[in-house]
Amino acid sequence: MTAADQPARPLDAFGPGSVVVPPPGDPATFPALQAEIRELAREHDAVILAHSYERPEIQDVADHVGDSLNLSRVAASAPQSTIVFCGVSFMAETAKILSRSKRVLLPDIKAGCSLADSITVEQLRGWKAEHRGAVVVSYVNTTAAVKAESDYCCTSGNARAVINAVPVDKQILFLPDMFLGLWLQRVTGRKLHIWLGECHVHAGIRPSDVEQWHRDLPGAELLIHPECGCTSQIIEIAGDDAHILSTEGMVTYAQQSTAEAFLIATETGILHRLNLKAPGKRFVPVNREAVCQYMKLTTLEKVRDSLRLGIHEIDVPAEIAARARLALERMIAIS
Ligand code: 13P
Ligand code: SF4
Repeated sequence: MTAADQPARPLDAFGPGSVVVPPPGDPATFPALQAEIRELAREHDAVILAHSYERPEIQDVADHVGDSLNLSRVAASAPQSTIVFCGVSFMAETAKILSRSKRVLLPDIKAGCSLADSITVEQLRGWKAEHRGAVVVSYVNTTAAVKAESDYCCTSGNARAVINAVPVDKQILFLPDMFLGLWLQRVTGRKLHIWLGECHVHAGIRPSDVEQWHRDLPGAELLIHPECGCTSQIIEIAGDDAHILSTEGMVTYAQQSTAEAFLIATETGILHRLNLKAPGKRFVPVNREAVCQYMKLTTLEKVRDSLRLGIHEIDVPAEIAARARLALERMIAIS
């Protein structure tokens, strides 16, 4: 099977309930599969990128592990002609937007994102028509078409700086994550128009999860991703112990902090990376069920087949890519 044999489908067309997550593989098979993948990557001139929510064995076989933006930057600067993106579709699209001449592969085409699904380009056009002249700031968890309709992109790591860079006399449409939007309103003091989208995984992390752990593990620092449900209430519970951080920000913070224990409020895949990068410290997920089934679709077998068969090749039409790239470049210039 080649990329051309794949049925055409819009990206992000599968709801979280419709994806079947493969069971955990047999760890005894991992070393041989990983060796095969490394050999195929060499043969096919490919670099393997993995988001920090991916399964541990996928993170371990990758050339680079990180957050969505860092990985897209690595993709653009990597010398290899093929990028295997072990992540979700909007990330592979972003890599393709920033690396036009490279082949970008996504091992499982069903790896979508409920947050990116929460706004379509038609909805955004309608929203813009209601607020003519407003500046559109889109989180990177959006489709390429939505990025192309945006003035700026942002990530959890630079959203505050992007909002602060918009002239104060301009209205801002912020999308698609409402929790991130509400937090940005609080820390920037700017009034934002906020799209009511959410990530089903982060929205499921509730203040009560944090409250219990904060009681049980006094002194632990709380690292929260701003997509979490009711981030503002969580800050009130944890006070000075709370730190709102992007995924990569959590890794850097944990490495530099003198604290011994950390409560982690984000997708649990990050724990593998935290344990690797900050050994000897204790990391406790506030909600063990915070698992992104889209991220867990990627298995070693699928990465191997992706390399062998060239599946699933991600493309973004040139005209959309050019406009989406502008929004990404404006963000990069700020941060
Ligand atoms: P990052 O941009 O921090 O990689 O996060 C992406 C994501 O999907 C968070 O849920
Ligand atoms: Fe999307 Fe949420 Fe999964 Fe991140 S954790 S990829 S925002 S569904």
